Amino acid sequence: MTPLVDVRGLNVVFHKKGTFARARTVQAVKDVSFHIEQGETLGLVGESGSGKSTTGRAVLKLVPYASGQVSVAGHNLTALSGEALRKVRRDMQMVFQDPYSSLDPSATVAASVSEPLLVHDGLSGPRARARVVELLELVGLAAHHADRYPYEFSGGQRQRIAIARALALNPKFIVCDEAVSALDVSTQNQVINLLEGLRAEFKLSYLFIAHDLAVVRHISDRVAVMYLGHIVEDGPAERIYNQPAHPYTQALLSAIPDASPYRERRERILLAGEAPDPASPPPGCPLQTRCPYVMDVCRQAMPEPTPVHGGGQVACHLQTSGPTLSGAPLAAPAVKS
Ligand SMILES: Nc1ncnc2c1ncn2[C@@H]1O[C@H](COP(=O)(O)OP(=O)(O)OP(=O)(O)O)[C@@H](O)[C@H]1O
Ligand SMILES: [Mg+2]
Repeated sequence: MTPLVDVRGLNVVFHKKGTFARARTVQAVKDVSFHIEQGETLGLVGESGSGKSTTGRAVLKLVPYASGQVSVAGHNLTALSGEALRKVRRDMQMVFQDPYSSLDPSATVAASVSEPLLVHDGLSGPRARARVVELLELVGLAAHHADRYPYEFSGGQRQRIAIARALALNPKFIVCDEAVSALDVSTQNQVINLLEGLRAEFKLSYLFIAHDLAVVRHISDRVAVMYLGHIVEDGPAERIYNQPAHPYTQALLSAIPDASPYRERRERILLAGEAPDPASPPPGCPLQTRCPYVMDVCRQAMPEPTPVHGGGQVACHLQTSGPTLSGAPLAAPAVKS
């Protein structure tokens, strides 16, 4: 069976004018491959500018891709455009960090939530209203909220409204792009619980994007870690948290303040400096300029994805040429916390 979402060899390139009218080419997504089964959540993490949103948008064909294959719910998106693409879009939705980007502040909740019904199905009047009430109840909001405006709600409630709107057309796949990142921790947990419940009820698949590994931990079945446009590691969420194989994943986990089992077992890993300019990435491994374990080979060749014990893959020369395997504490220059 093909997975609900199947992405192979995806590349996205942006061309933009730089200073002194010099063109800058940024390859935001580099040879990215992943799949998501029906009813499954893939967490996608990485620091700002690593290419997470571009990946999510490219999967929905909201940005053009330079090369690669994407299929969602049996539709080969690579081959679709125009009306045919519009038709399959109903199966795929997106929820953003800032609900103001999806909710028109001058429209009532009912108008925002029912807009996809009108656009795709021509539904209006009492039938649309009944569906709006049903959708609001699904996300834990009472029917009387339908005639209010977005500013009358808290951030968490606005995110519920954005989720109701995303659910209007019974999608199969939702990209949640930093959907809970702007919320306080207890509201984050409530919205994550809501998304979990909806996933179980409707067998939804999510690509759940966040900066922070702590946020995706509980909702993700599997996690993929991005750095400078590459997926550097992926695998079952438990394995990623307990036995991260890539130094970048280890550094992301080191940054989580709670006492995870991973933290107790090892030294803190800090990365030196900032991520390189995405317009001029280093040759070889993308992490080489910051990695405490860098070896000569890292400066010469891009590491190939290698299977990891416990599931998933890692693209790191330490796995093939280095002194360590995942889970085995690295003796090299970790920095004490
Ligand atoms: N429309 C665009 N035009 C030109 N460059 C872009 C565009 N969108 C993104 N980029 C560039 O692509 C790279 C990846 O950006 P992207 O927004 O996908 O990262 P991200 O991981 O989602 O970051 P954040 O965590 O800040 O949301 C960045 O270098 C960014 O500047
Ligand atoms: Mg983003």
